[in-house]
Amino acid sequence: MDEQNSHTEKRKNEHIEIALNQDVTGKKMTTGFENYRFKHNALPEINFSEIDLSSSFLGKTMRTPFLISSMTGGTEKAYQINKALALAAEKQGWAVGLGSMRAAIENGQTAYTFQIRNYAPSVPVIANLGAVQLNYGYGLRECMKAVEIAEADGLVLHLNGMQEIFQPEGDVNFSNLLKKIEEAAKNLPVPVGVKEVGMGIDGETAQKLINAGVQFIDVAGAGGTSWIQVEKYRSKDQMREQAAEAFLEWGNSTAEALNEVKGSSAEVPVIASGGLNNGVDAAKALALGANLAGYGRILLPAAIENEHSIISKLDQIEFELRTAMFGIGAVSVAELKSTKRLKKIKS
Ligand SMILES: Cc1cc2nc3c(=O)[nH]c(=O)nc-3n(C[C@H](O)[C@H](O)[C@H](O)COP(=O)(O)O)c2cc1C
Repeated sequence: MDEQNSHTEKRKNEHIEIALNQDVTGKKMTTGFENYRFKHNALPEINFSEIDLSSSFLGKTMRTPFLISSMTGGTEKAYQINKALALAAEKQGWAVGLGSMRAAIENGQTAYTFQIRNYAPSVPVIANLGAVQLNYGYGLRECMKAVEIAEADGLVLHLNGMQEIFQPEGDVNFSNLLKKIEEAAKNLPVPVGVKEVGMGIDGETAQKLINAGVQFIDVAGAGGTSWIQVEKYRSKDQMREQAAEAFLEWGNSTAEALNEVKGSSAEVPVIASGGLNNGVDAAKALALGANLAGYGRILLPAAIENEHSIISKLDQIEFELRTAMFGIGAVSVAELKSTKRLKKIKS
């Protein structure tokens, strides 16, 4: 293994360890979903057992409106996590995202850590690369390679500017990226989406991305995992460590980002993620117009145990969503999305 690859492996393992064991939330930042409450319906007039969560994404019908957010890959440990997540996603009918596939592009020996299609043959699988890599030598060829390695239904490019700044080895040239994202979105044979990693996408940015041909947007808003905080624990640089404290409340909250992105385009599919904790958060996100609700770090502890633990966790989130739907009398995701029972209680 050369030096670059062993660095990548160390970084991937550190990210998992830190996400599992440290407080990596922005502390002063919340998702914004606490500002909304459903008006309870005492007479829902529906049968709980007939509540139908079926949805669709990237041309596939899904049994649920859920996504496992992009998290990992590139090491044996990461492969075990991806495998458990894929098995659970298939069993429950969730879409599944992979972590950044740069490791596989740069070292073919790690490609297997992203090859989970066998375990998730029917659900949407989403390949992942950092958009900034398009400024560091990546182009259509690398994007396509990521899709092929994962046999993915689509590719999501992540925007992680703040993470790169706080990462000692970060790639910080984010100039003229939109044009390159456009080239990928318009020329790849699969749908290309864009996500943040926990700081949120705003309405103006969403509009630019949609005009550039991006086919879905994952807001990945603030209120959950903060990558500034994750990188703080890895940093050996006092200035960055201290600066991380100044950014505890940085970001567009998930609810705010979702409202803005939906305001930019009613048509482009939008994923609400970033700090979602349970199925009630998903119900609120769907009622605010999201097509899917995504969960990241809160799935990790179960994912490192085995696929049974992760299946129970997904089951729990589904039960909570169904129960919220029962509580407002919505028998389908379409009814939930058009409910008038979601009230803003605080601004
Ligand atoms: C351990 C870990 C690794 C992650 N790696 C990636 C990645 O490689 N690519 C990416 O787009 N997002 C990555 N993310 C970000 C998540 O996809 C998600 O956007 C973010 O964590 C916010 O969601 P959460 O609050 O539910 O965790 C990672 C998250 C975690 C916890």
